[in-house]
Amino acid sequence: MRPILLTATCALALFLIDPGDGLLRVILDFDRWEVNNGSAFFNMEKFRVRKFNRTISVMNGTGVLLVDLDNRYSYGVHFARSAQGNNQFNAYPMKLAAKPFCDFINVYYREYQHLFLKNTNLPFVPPEGLCPFPNGTYWAKDLHLDSSVIPVVVPEGLWRCTTDLVDTHSDGLMKVIIDFNHWDLINGTDILSMESVRVRKYNRTMSVLNGTITFLVDLDNTYEYGFNFARSAQGNNQYHAYPMKIASKPICDFLATYYREFQEQFLKFSNLPHVPEEGLCPFPKGKYWVKDAYVDSSLIPIVIPEGYWKASPELRIVKTGELVATGSFYVKLTKELV
Ligand SMILES: *[C@@H]1O[C@H](CO)[C@@H](O)[C@H](O)[C@H]1NC(C)=O
Ligand SMILES: *[C@@H]1O[C@H](CO)[C@@H](O)[C@H](O)[C@H]1NC(C)=O
Ligand SMILES: *[C@@H]1O[C@H](CO)[C@@H](O)[C@H](O)[C@H]1NC(C)=O
Ligand SMILES: *[C@@H]1O[C@H](CO)[C@@H](O)[C@H](O)[C@H]1NC(C)=O
Ligand SMILES: *[C@@H]1O[C@H](CO)[C@@H](O)[C@H](O)[C@H]1NC(C)=O
Ligand SMILES: *[C@@H]1O[C@H](CO)[C@@H](O)[C@H](O)[C@H]1NC(C)=O
Ligand SMILES: *[C@@H]1O[C@H](CO)[C@@H](O)[C@H](O)[C@H]1NC(C)=O
Repeated sequence: MRPILLTATCALALFLIDPGDGLLRVILDFDRWEVNNGSAFFNMEKFRVRKFNRTISVMNGTGVLLVDLDNRYSYGVHFARSAQGNNQFNAYPMKLAAKPFCDFINVYYREYQHLFLKNTNLPFVPPEGLCPFPNGTYWAKDLHLDSSVIPVVVPEGLWRCTTDLVDTHSDGLMKVIIDFNHWDLINGTDILSMESVRVRKYNRTMSVLNGTITFLVDLDNTYEYGFNFARSAQGNNQYHAYPMKIASKPICDFLATYYREFQEQFLKFSNLPHVPEEGLCPFPKGKYWVKDAYVDSSLIPIVIPEGYWKASPELRIVKTGELVATGSFYVKLTKELV
C-alpha cells in the first residue's frame, strides 16, 4: 500500500504599499488554492476565495474535515516564490518542517490561532494542546490573513505555499476490502447499456463484474462526469450523503486526469481503450467487455470508514447541466488486518 500524500497548494500575492506616512506596509492577498487527492480527508466544495475590497481577498464558506487528524499524520509547509508573478516558481529556503500533526498544531498554529478564531468556528487549541484535531464542519467568514504577521523583509511577489499531509501508518497494517453488491442504472439507457453486466461471487471476500457494457454515443467534452458517495453505517439501506466527491469534469478531462492514472486497473480485465498521455477525445462508442472486474482496494485510502457504500456516477450535459445518465454501485467496505 502506498502512503497517502495529500498536497494542498495556495497562491498568495505579497506586495508592499506606502500608506503615505513613510512606513511601508505588507499586504498579503489570497489568490487561489488547490487540493490533490484530498477527497477522503476534506470537502472544500463550498469554500471560496472572494474579493473583499481593492487590495484583499477573503475566504468564505464551509469546509468539511472528514477524519480526526492525530499524530499518525505528519504535516509540513514549504514555500516557493515567483518574482514576476508569471507562475515560474522557485523554491524558497523557508519552511515549516514536517511534524506529527498535533505537534504542528500545538507548536506553529496555536500561536497564531487568534488570527483564525475571529472569523471561523475552528476549535480553540489550549496550551496543553488539542489531539486529535476533530473532524467536523468548519466555516470561515470573510477570513483574511493579517499581513502584520509577515516581516517586511519577506520579498514581494507571488508566493506558493504547499502543505503536505502524510499518513505515516498506511504501510499495510490494515487493508481495505471492497465487495460489489449490485448496481442500478437509473436512466441514461440512450447513452449506455449495462444490461448484460452481472455481479458474480469470485471468492469468499470478493464479488466481480462480468459482462458487456455498450456505449451508444461518442462521449466528448459536451458531457461532464463525476461521482457522489453515500454511506450506510448499519447496512440497513439508510444511506447518508458523505461529503466526499470526485468533482465533475468535462469527460475527456476526467479521462485524462482521474481515470488515466488508474486505468491499468481497468485494462487488466476489460478491453476499454487505453488513454494515452495526450488524452483520448471523444471516448469512442462501442461494446466493451469486462471480465472478473473488481476494485483494487489499495486505491482506497485506509481512512475511509467501513460500511455499505453507494457510489453514484453522474453524466451531465455541460451546457444545460441536465443529468442524462446516473445510477449507483453498491459496495461493502471492510478492513482486515494483514
Ligand atoms: C497524491 O498526489 C501526489 C501529487 O499530486 C502524487 O504524487 C501521489 O502519488 C498521490 N498519492 C495518492 C495516494 O494518490
Ligand atoms: C462572505 O459571506 C458572508 C455571509 O456568509 C457575506 O455576508 C459576505 O458578504 C461574504 N463576503 C464576500 C466578500 O463575498
Ligand atoms: C481592505 O480591507 C482591509 C481589512 O478590513 C483593510 O485593512 C484595508 O485597509 C482595506 N483596503 C481598502 C483599499 O479599502
Ligand atoms: C469523527 O468524529 C466522531 C465524533 O468525535 C468520531 O466518533 C469518529 O470516529 C470520527 N471519524 C473519523 C473518520 O475520524
Ligand atoms: C466471468 O466470465 C468469464 C467468461 O466471460 C468466466 O470465465 C468467469 O468464470 C466469470 N466469472 C465468474 C465469477 O462467474
Ligand atoms: C480473492 O481474490 C482476490 C483477487 O485475486 C485476492 O486478492 C484475495 O486474497 C482473495 N480472497 C480470498 C479469501 O481468497
Ligand atoms: C435522470 O434521472 C434523474 C434523477 O432521477 C433526473 O433528475 C433526470 O431528469 C433524469 N434525466 C433524464 C434525461 O431523464
